[in-house]
This record gives sequence, C-alpha cells and structure tokens, in this order.
Amino acid sequence: ESSENGKIISLYAQATQLYHHILVNTELGEEALNYLHDRGLNDDMINEFNLGFAPTTDILKNFVKEKQIDYQVLRKSGLFVERPLNADDPVDNLNDRFKDRVMFPINDANGHPIAFSGRALHTEDKTVPKYLNSPETPIFNKRRVLFNLDKAKATIRQTKSVILFEGFMDVLAAYRAGVKNGVASMGTSLTDEQIGILAHQARKLSICYDGDDPGQNATKRALEIIRPSERFDLEVINLPDKLDPDEVVKKYGEEKFREIVQNQHETPLSFFMHFYARNRNLENENDQLAYISDILKELVTVKDPIERDLYLNRLASKFGVEYRNLESQLQSLMAEQQ
Ligand code: CTP
Ligand code: MN
Ligand code: MN
Ligand code: MN
Ligand code: MN
Repeated sequence: ESSENGKIISLYAQATQLYHHILVNTELGEEALNYLHDRGLNDDMINEFNLGFAPTTDILKNFVKEKQIDYQVLRKSGLFVERPLNADDPVDNLNDRFKDRVMFPINDANGHPIAFSGRALHTEDKTVPKYLNSPETPIFNKRRVLFNLDKAKATIRQTKSVILFEGFMDVLAAYRAGVKNGVASMGTSLTDEQIGILAHQARKLSICYDGDDPGQNATKRALEIIRPSERFDLEVINLPDKLDPDEVVKKYGEEKFREIVQNQHETPLSFFMHFYARNRNLENENDQLAYISDILKELVTVKDPIERDLYLNRLASKFGVEYRNLESQLQSLMAEQQ
C-alpha cells in the first residue's frame, strides 16, 4: 500500500540522518570516522554521500520507540530483525539489523535512500559478512537499483558513458578522483533491469572490476550478460597489480587513476584474449589448441566482419597457423549457432 511505502521511505530518510549524525558528531562514531579518513574519504565526501555509522547498540530501535512509528512499517523496512518475544510493546520484538557497521545509503535515482549497505568495521570475525545489505522490501528491489546512479546520472547523460565498478568503495574512490559516472550493482551480477536503465542514458559502458581473479571472472560474466543485448559500446578497463579501483587511487593517486580510466581500456575480445591465456602455458600445444578454440567461440558472436578478421589475423600470427583454417573453423561454429 502506497502510504505505507511513503512511511518506509520516510523511515529510511530518518535512519540515514541518524547514522550520519552518529558518525560525524558523536564519540560512538569516532573509530568509524577515523577508519573512513584513513581510507581517503574526507568530510566533504562523507557529507555528500551521507555516510553513517551503526553502533553495537540498538540505536535505531530506541530512536523509533520515541517516534511511535507503525509496527508494520518497522517490520517491512528491513532495518530490523524480528525475534518473537510477545512483549507488551511489539517494538521489543525487534533488534537493529545493522550493528558495528559503516553505513552506505543506497539511493533511488532521485536521491532518496531506500536501502543500506553496511560494511563491518571489525572484520577479524570471519563469520560476519564484510558487507550486509538491506533485504528486499516494498521500496527496494535490488535488481533495479544501482549505487550512485542518482549522483552519476547527469555525467552519464552528458558523456553518454557509464563505468561499472564492483564495490561501493570503488565508486567513492573514483568519484573523489573526479570520475563521476561510476555506479555499482548490489554485490551481484548486473541484471537485465539495470542494463535497461543504463541503456537509456549511455552509449558506452566500461567495466572496471577488480584486477584480482574474482574480479576478472566477474568481468567475463558481465560481458556475457551485456554483450547479447547489443545496447552498448563495451570496453574493459585494466587495472595494474591485481588491485581494485580504490586501491589504485590509494597507491598511484587520483591523476594516475583518471589516466588509467581514459587510456587503459580494451575491447571485449581483447579482454578475452588475455583472460583465456590466464593459467595456461601458451608454449604448450594442447594449451594452444584449447586457447584458440576458446577465442573462436567468443568470435562467433562478433557481428562486425572486420573485427572478426582483426582477431583471426592476430591468432594466425600469434600461433603460426593458417588464417583460412581459422576462418573455416569459425564459419562452421557460426553455422552451428544458427
Ligand atoms: N560483497 C558483498 N559481501 C561480501 C563481500 C563483497 O556483498 N562479503 C560485495 C560488496 O558489494 C563489495 C563487492 O562485493 O563492495 C566487492 O567485493 P570486494 O572486492 O571483496 O570488496 P571491496 O569493495 O573491495 O570492499 P573493501 O574495499 O571495503 O574491503
Ligand atoms: Mn573483489
Ligand atoms: Mn574490491
Ligand atoms: Mn576494496
Ligand atoms: Mn579512451
């Protein structure tokens, strides 16, 4: 019901302000504030993104108790976990979901917070997840939401281009480096809904996932999801030393990061030529054959004959095989796909 949704939205706005206040104005937030400063986020960024801190106490529950908010609104907000106690006041059945976490508000496209992602401030205990997101609620469908789209959309429309990052800290690091068209999905692969939303605003989509193995595997998956839609000019941004974007900004500085985003990009096929070489010994003939077969399979979906030609030539000269043999193999793979 829509008035209930309005109340949940209002609760998220109040919770955002409360967590932000705790972070920037109170002793409870001091450690988290130092943590964010150490990670390179200054007070302007912390204020612009309304970052917050949820302490170990039930701070939100105590806040809403004074406000007399409908129990159903509290339950459905996802901000609490329910534990049936049959107490006189039903609010006593609830405990804060987010505790001891740095809070990233997740906004809708108009800038209204509709969910949180909370990063554990203490990660020694490996049983607590590093990032905890709000569950699906009447106002939050994670398949449709992209972190930072509200702030990025003006730049995305101006430049007709968007950059997809893996993590929230990566989006923030890019933003402070002046790369303001970055978004992140909610810790999952990009969905068709998110692709549709971005395709309305951008022509070029750059994938800038972590340089480590999970990030490269996620890049491959993202390309497989996005390429068939044929709605973007796609490129992959390469980061040095298996770092993630946040670590690149920290290690090499903002200017170097901007330069990498500008210049260190490759086509999807070029990405695959590197990707399939990983964990293979291309001096070995079996590995060579498996590699060539992997690349040919990727070439099947390339529509532009000149692009196909380019990579076939590269394969031919790289391995000293006949171009016409590669081409006829590709033709028969393409015929199989029909
Ligand atoms: N993620 C998650 N739960 C985890 C680990 C990761 O939801 N336990 C999601 C988060 O959205 C995270 C993204 O996957 O931002 C990328 O994961 P990872 O690279 O491990 O995290 P970072 O973003 O690098 O986190 P940080 O720099 O804060 O350590
Ligand atoms: Mn990662
Ligand atoms: Mn990372
Ligand atoms: Mn990181
Ligand atoms: Mn460029």
